[in-house]
Amino acid sequence: MALERTLSIIKPDAVAKNVVGEIYARFEKAGLKVVAAKMKHLSRKEAEGFYAVHRERPFFNALVEFMISGPVMIQVLQGENAVLKNRELMGATNPKEAAKGTIRADFAESIDANAVHGSDAAETAANEIAYFFATTEVFPR
Ligand code: PPS
Repeated sequence: MALERTLSIIKPDAVAKNVVGEIYARFEKAGLKVVAAKMKHLSRKEAEGFYAVHRERPFFNALVEFMISGPVMIQVLQGENAVLKNRELMGATNPKEAAKGTIRADFAESIDANAVHGSDAAETAANEIAYFFATTEVFPR
């Protein structure tokens, strides 16, 4: 099994609901360690840059507006198969299709306010981590 890192974002809806601690507990219970973290209110430029790969998709503007609507909690998770493990904890993109007990099933209202982001592959994770964190801000443990 591979020791990996992945980028996780607790989105404005979940921060507003005050469930940051509950979501962190799920990461930790699944064996994922928080090795970097920051709370941030993203600028439009930062959100557009982060989601640049989705620029042509019909929901791009709505996604950016939502992501800058309030502070987010950004963290790097480290553990065995962290990318897949985090995606499993998150559940499907559309909370209506998310498996019972997943973060999105329990805390998200809709596909456009779906509580969490998680990198979808190890390579994407490396780029996403570098987008928000300097190497000196990540604390392997
Ligand atoms: S995924 O998770 O990347 O496989 O999902 P994908 O369908 O490719 O969606 C990419 C990101 O866009 C968000 N999304 C939406 N936002 C607003 N409205 C609609 N309809 C919508 N559909 C998808 C989705 O949550 C993904 O964002 P992140 O932050 O990666 O979860």
